[in-house]
Amino acid sequence: MIPEKILAQILDVARIEEVIGDVVQLKKRGANYLGRCPFHDEKTPSFTVSPAKGIYKCFGCGAAGNVVKFVMENEHLSYPEAIKFVGRRYNIEVEEIEITPADRLAQQNREGLLIAAKFVANYFSHQLFDNQEGRSIGLSYFKERGFSEDIVRKFELGYALDSWDDLLTVAQTSGYSLDLLQQLGLVAEKDGRKFAFFRSRVQFAIHDANGKVVAFAGRTLSKDPKKPKYINSPETEIYHKSKVLYGMHLAKKSIAQHNECLLVEGYTDVISLVQGGIENVVASAGTSLTIEQIRLIRRYTPNITILYDGDAAGIKAALRGIDLVLEEDMNVKIVLLPMPEDPDSYIRKVGKTAFEQYIHSNAKDFVLFKADLLIKEVGDDPVKRTDLIRNIVATVAVIPDNIKRQLYLQKCAELLQIDQQLLINEVNKMRLKKHRPQDHNEQQNTLTNEQLDYLTNPAGNRLQPIKVQEVVTSCEIYEKELLNVLLEFGSMIYIDDVLLAVYLIHETETCLLITPTTKK
Ligand code: CTP
Ligand code: MN
Repeated sequence: MIPEKILAQILDVARIEEVIGDVVQLKKRGANYLGRCPFHDEKTPSFTVSPAKGIYKCFGCGAAGNVVKFVMENEHLSYPEAIKFVGRRYNIEVEEIEITPADRLAQQNREGLLIAAKFVANYFSHQLFDNQEGRSIGLSYFKERGFSEDIVRKFELGYALDSWDDLLTVAQTSGYSLDLLQQLGLVAEKDGRKFAFFRSRVQFAIHDANGKVVAFAGRTLSKDPKKPKYINSPETEIYHKSKVLYGMHLAKKSIAQHNECLLVEGYTDVISLVQGGIENVVASAGTSLTIEQIRLIRRYTPNITILYDGDAAGIKAALRGIDLVLEEDMNVKIVLLPMPEDPDSYIRKVGKTAFEQYIHSNAKDFVLFKADLLIKEVGDDPVKRTDLIRNIVATVAVIPDNIKRQLYLQKCAELLQIDQQLLINEVNKMRLKKHRPQDHNEQQNTLTNEQLDYLTNPAGNRLQPIKVQEVVTSCEIYEKELLNVLLEFGSMIYIDDVLLAVYLIHETETCLLITPTTKK
């Protein structure tokens, strides 16, 4: 059996247009690619590949499927063989493992947890609609907030009674062991007494991207400031916070269709927007955005638009963690909502059309948003300005796409009113530093594997071995040499003006290492 983790990793990095592009000539048509079907004879192309959906479809012969299915059919391989094939394409080693009895038990346990979590979601929903306390407190709260009954059912909202043991008793009578509930984090314990973790709260079921209930969040309705507004299920065998985005199971289709994902802060923001007719929306529930969440979004689109409250906290949040998104080569836009609105209140106030209009006329590119904001903050103070430049350079330096990086540098130079070359040098330094071993005293004239990997493919997958050729030159011709090669082959360039310069010349798959004989 192929380990789940490896399978997930392969499906995560594999881009269907690349794998199919290896054997079929594909041309870009809007969001999709078009080529001649490899499965039947055709003169006019009717074979379509959709990167957003991760599928191919031939409108001539009907062949269709995902990346693994394509490889199975095209290479005549079994399912595990096809997975290994795709793995090799991305330099991921696949070792099959034997399923041990312990693995099987763990798998069965996870399935049991999923079934129990669904049962509990139904229980909370039942309390909300059919219990006197649930109706008068929980349901009326949701109604007051403007949530329709349909939307409450769609998101599997519920109510946890003001009771220490009702859930525990009902679940056990229905055949779910206390141990399962405990594993789900639904049982709290104090002085040897076990009781329900969620009490007297409205409940939000949290689903994975496939729509399975994996956790819960409970919102208090009490005004007591000592009570946390939301409490959330802990990490469990089936709930890994960093990998889940609230609302993704309902949003993914719409995200792919719009080729854009809206990211908001709260559960209720997601619910209100969906009720208002905007469905391509998710929230990172109670954590700052993680790399796994970003990759989850990237399966459906490279475009993220983040909606924040227009207050100071919202702006601060906007600056946090976004370099991580840029590093994944996604396009990030920021929208600040007019004070004091959040997405939930704003859509209820203005409706879908005006909301969409607001987003589209106020979405600012993240890098420029950040530059703009910091410039205003810094003014003319030279020390602060230096910090600011470093800060922006650090943001731009993580963007893997060369062209995008250059365009940003151009814009930032304009905004900051400084020489563009200065910014380019700073970015190059930062990028080189990142890919050079820590020991600066040791002179380097061969590249580490890591550097080679990076040069051959910024995503970290070395596709082909490359030759390294060292050129030792004097400082005077050093810059000239750089310029010549750059003009002729210019693709990637990493400059550190003290130690070395490296180019990758794609045509000859040679990596040219230039070391000045006299160092400054
Ligand atoms: N959050 C949390 N724990 C808290 C407070 C907040 O996990 N104690 C998370 C929740 O995911 C919440 C999000 O942060 O949805 C945003 O918090 P906030 O803006 O305070 O709540 P809203 O979602 O706006 O909820 P409401 O509209 O019900 O006040
Ligand atoms: Mn709110």
